[in-house]
Formats: sequence, C-alpha cells, structure tokens
Amino acid sequence: MMERDYEKPRVIEEGIITGGRALKEAPKIQGISTGVDGLDELFYTTEIKNKKIVKKSLGGIPALSVLNITGASDTGKTLLVEQFTIKQAELGKKVAFITVETPAPFVSLSLNERARAMGINFEAIEDNIVLIDAASHSSLRENIPNLLTTLTYAIKNYSVSSTVIDSVTGLYEHKEMLARTIVRQIFNFLKKWHQTALLVSQKRSGHEELTAEAAGGYAVGHIVDGTIVLAKELIMSQYSARLFGRPPGDIVRLFRIDGCRMCGHDTRTFFLEITETGLLRIGPPLRS
Ligand SMILES: Nc1ncnc2c1ncn2[C@@H]1O[C@H](COP(=O)(O)OP(=O)(O)O)[C@@H](O)[C@H]1O
Ligand SMILES: [Mg+2]
Repeated sequence: MMERDYEKPRVIEEGIITGGRALKEAPKIQGISTGVDGLDELFYTTEIKNKKIVKKSLGGIPALSVLNITGASDTGKTLLVEQFTIKQAELGKKVAFITVETPAPFVSLSLNERARAMGINFEAIEDNIVLIDAASHSSLRENIPNLLTTLTYAIKNYSVSSTVIDSVTGLYEHKEMLARTIVRQIFNFLKKWHQTALLVSQKRSGHEELTAEAAGGYAVGHIVDGTIVLAKELIMSQYSARLFGRPPGDIVRLFRIDGCRMCGHDTRTFFLEITETGLLRIGPPLRS
C-alpha cells in the first residue's frame, strides 16, 4: 500500500489573540455618511447614562463595515451607491468604484448627474473617485485575483478608504456555485485593506421582496456585516392598498436595514422616495 504524506497538525499561533488585545485593535465605531437623506440617522450606538440606555446616532453607516445592498432591478441600488460615492468624494475621501455591468464612461455620466442633483460641483471632486472598469475588461470581471490586485494598486496609489462594487452578482454570473467563495474572498480583502464598502447584489424576481436573499443564494448576506434591502411593489389588491395607504396601480418603494453586526440600527421598514432628479430619500416608516 502506498504511504500518504500527511501534514502533521501544527499550532497557528498568529490565529490566537486575547480578548483584551483584540479589543485594542478594534476600530472605533463611527459613521460614514451616505449622502442619502434620512439614512445616516438609522444606525446608532448605545451608551448607558444614569442607568438608562441612550441611543446615539452614528451619522452614517459604520466605518469599516462591508454592507450588502440588495433588491430587484430598478429599486435604487445604483442610485444609492452613487450618492454614497459623491458624498464621500465631497468630504475629501477617495472612493474606488468597481463597475461590473456599466462601462466607466456611462458611470461617470451618471455620477456627474448625481452630483448635480446633490448640489455638488463634480469637477471639484472627480479626482477623488477611482473607477475600475470590470464591465469593459473581462480580465477583471472573470478573474478575481486580477480584480483584487488591481484594487490593491488603486487603494495604495490613491489612498482609497471606501469601495463600491456594482454589482458583485455580475462577478459570478453563470457560476453561482462559486458565489460564496468569491464573496468571501472579496470580504476578507476589504477587511484586510480597511475599506468601508457597499456591495450591490441583485435579487431574482422569485425571491421574496423584502428578504436579504440575493442571486447566489444566501452567499452575500451571510458573509457581509449587514444588509440593506430595497424593494418596489405595485399596488394591485385592496389589501396592499390599505396596507400602504395608496391606490391600486401606484408603485411604492420600500427600504429596510436587514441586520448589521457592527452597531445598532432601526429595524422598521420605511417608504423610499426617488426624486425627479434621481436622488434616494428615506420616507416615513410603514405601519400597518
Ligand atoms: N436620473 C434619474 N432621474 C430620475 N429617476 C431616476 C434617475 N435614474 C434612475 N431613476 C429612477 O430610479 C430607479 C432606480 O434606479 P437604479 O438605482 O438604477 O436601480 P437598480 O440599480 O436597483 O436597478 C429607476 O428605475 C428610475 O425610475
Ligand atoms: Mg443598478
């Protein structure tokens, strides 16, 4: 019989860290503004003051979190990440925008439009945005090591602090069994490089509207730090007309934070508005 070489199990010492040391290395919880009216107030930390729990708004998504933005098509995912990009660029931060479906020139047109709607001069901030065009280059889209090496280059050379990927679903089209591995690789990479990140993922029409499930199964939602779900509903029954307080034939847009392990957050479902100039705005909470 053939002798097999088994690697003798060994202690991976760098994998052990005491609670105290880990806490010292933990990031300070602070908010990163999204540029979406009403969204930044929905994340909070809690403090105990005079034996009472006091909620303190973060004023943004938690820094260094990797969040999944999911929803069916036309629910406002791209608008959300564009607003985030413009807002961060305006604050003088560098953002890497990995575009997987739309070639970079079209994305920049759209970013330009978003800036104008937000009352921000695009020319003054355009160099804070680093586009990585995986839509035009299959060598980036179809090859995750190439993509991450290119992102490393951008992060180092432009001092990038936030990363947007629109969409991660486009990175595992026709190979959904790889979704988990790909998302895990990207997540670990973003953590290692201290990025605050928004990963757009697409829902299929078969998925429940307001769940975190996205194409690729639960791959994305289970790996990332939190999920924001966007939905769009056509009012077709008296029941939903009553529920949403709108007449049949109307479209209602909805917004919900589906969990975040970095800090507290509002758990209600909100109406979502898209203004005429294409800006997302969180509306009032839905109550039945
Ligand atoms: N420039 C714009 N002006 C007005 N409305 C817009 C603009 N761009 C997009 N919208 C509206 O917002 C919706 C959501 O757009 P988008 O963010 O691209 O959706 P998703 O990325 O989820 O597919 C569109 O269907 C459209 O109705
Ligand atoms: Mg989109």
